Amino acid sequence: MRQKIVAGNWKMNTTISEGIELANNIIAKLGEIPQDVHLVLCSPFTHLFPLSKIVGDIKCPGCRSKISIGAQNCANKDNGAYTGEVSAKMIATLHEAVGTIAGAPEDAEGVKVEYVIIGHSERRGYYGETNAILLEKTKLALSSGLKVIYCVGEELSQREAGKHFDIVGEEIKSVLYELTPEQMKNIVVAYEPIWAIGTGKTATSDQAQEIHAFIRKTIEEKFGALAQDITILYGGSCKPSNAKELFSQPDIDGGLIGGAALKGEDFIAIAQSY
Ligand code: PGA
Repeated sequence: MRQKIVAGNWKMNTTISEGIELANNIIAKLGEIPQDVHLVLCSPFTHLFPLSKIVGDIKCPGCRSKISIGAQNCANKDNGAYTGEVSAKMIATLHEAVGTIAGAPEDAEGVKVEYVIIGHSERRGYYGETNAILLEKTKLALSSGLKVIYCVGEELSQREAGKHFDIVGEEIKSVLYELTPEQMKNIVVAYEPIWAIGTGKTATSDQAQEIHAFIRKTIEEKFGALAQDITILYGGSCKPSNAKELFSQPDIDGGLIGGAALKGEDFIAIAQSY
């Protein structure tokens, strides 16, 4: 059985205080989401340390296992003179320091950042991240012990020209085909048509199902039966009013949510759509 995931991509939004408030609002409602749905909060780098502590402090045990935190990017280098970059290893180890903050109670424990988003179309488009760079990032993230939410998706002109299968197929093959089956188990794929991101235009559930099935088939061609266990998320103007219809499709295993993840009640309502 593959894991159902609703992940929030906060992008470059919220100050730390706002981010903490948002996380606390979501955590307060964890008991209201189905037991088999897992939430991931992908915050800006600056928020990961306090979120590691806040999620680590969740007392209700059934709730603690329902939520993880994630980063939105990592460097394609291990360490060194790369001003402004943050490595996968830095992200994967930051929880180790939570108990060392001055004044922290002795049993203070942070949770590990578990996920990192790689290949979001905003990174590909605005920062020139090619499939080759994304493969480097993916390998470093996996070897640091992070799970990867790997994003793929076509532009409107590419869909109109009937090229969306070629584009998405190439994004899958040039990165995921380079991984071992063991590494592949730690990959979540997110299909995000660029024309639907932040635009209010959602792919219809038929359009989304068609390409999700194609993604699973493409993974199956390389990895066989493992493809059935890979979680494939839909992203692009997913909101409480359309989540149920999208999530009812057989190959849609949840969502990567941008705008609607910034309101706790909307994010929870999406998670309740299963
Ligand atoms: P959106 O963004 O939900 O605001 O369309 C999704 C994403 O970019 O991950």
